[in-house]
Amino acid sequence: MNATKMFFEAHKVDLFRSNKLIFENLNLKIHDNESIAILGPNGSGKTTLIKTINREIYPATKEGSYLKIYGKRTWNVWQLRSMIGIVSDDLILSYNQDVIGVEVVLSGYHASIGVHGQIQRRLKTDQIDKAKEIMQKLDISSLENQPLKKLSMGQKKRCLLARALVHNPKIILLDEPTTGLDLSSTYKYMDILADLKKDGHNIILITHNIHEINNVIERVIMLKKGKIVADGKKDEMLTEKNLTNVFDVDVGLKKINENLLPYKKTTRQ
Ligand SMILES: Nc1ncnc2c1ncn2[C@@H]1O[C@H](COP(=O)(O)OP(=O)(O)OP(=O)(O)O)[C@@H](O)[C@H]1O
Ligand SMILES: [Mg+2]
Repeated sequence: MNATKMFFEAHKVDLFRSNKLIFENLNLKIHDNESIAILGPNGSGKTTLIKTINREIYPATKEGSYLKIYGKRTWNVWQLRSMIGIVSDDLILSYNQDVIGVEVVLSGYHASIGVHGQIQRRLKTDQIDKAKEIMQKLDISSLENQPLKKLSMGQKKRCLLARALVHNPKIILLDEPTTGLDLSSTYKYMDILADLKKDGHNIILITHNIHEINNVIERVIMLKKGKIVADGKKDEMLTEKNLTNVFDVDVGLKKINENLLPYKKTTRQ
């Protein structure tokens, strides 16, 4: 018996951004028990894919094509986003920089980008307690009353991660969560992801850092110019051949303590 649910299903889907066709005939299935890393060069369509899952981008209407999330073609986006947590630089940038840390976290309950008036009044004490508890877990209690404009990139990203977790979503979408983080914060972030996985969350991670694709991830999808060029089990996908193909550079891989590290094979004369 298969108890897992189909989370995302795209069938022959075309995706445009400002009249530019980014994906043509995209076919992709994601189950809600899978943790996935998405790899690919700049501009290959990774963020577009995440925004499609989060219903920020809609597919073009086309005969015979469909996009379903949890089996449904149409969704109330707010209801959908309450089932998903998202961390991305776009989201950080969309906040008013005077919003304080705890408000960023609380905004996760309503998938909003702040907690104003009506929303603030609707928040229950236990929701506020939960937000503070998560901030403590992520070591950012000291940021509760700090406005975003006074936070470093890593601190902002942790606030966003807390926001993504506060409503306990099954699926967490992470678009380059460690870009701009120092080494220690990166490792802490990776430990947090491992704990999330243990707690039953599933992660869809976009990253340019191959060493971050660790035990948390089971499946790797590689994109190139709006096409899926590799998709399958992590160990079978993360090969020198696939990486060389997707990034158009002669990539070698070294394994050190279970971490895969890429290097450039050929040196310039
Ligand atoms: N707002 C936009 N309007 C028009 N085209 C866009 C927009 N955002 C992205 N694109 C185009 O869509 C394509 C895919 O972009 P996307 O942001 O999905 O790439 P990505 O794989 O996330 O890249 P990166 O690694 O640089 O974040 C690119 O060709 C890009 O130029
Ligand atoms: Mg991107």
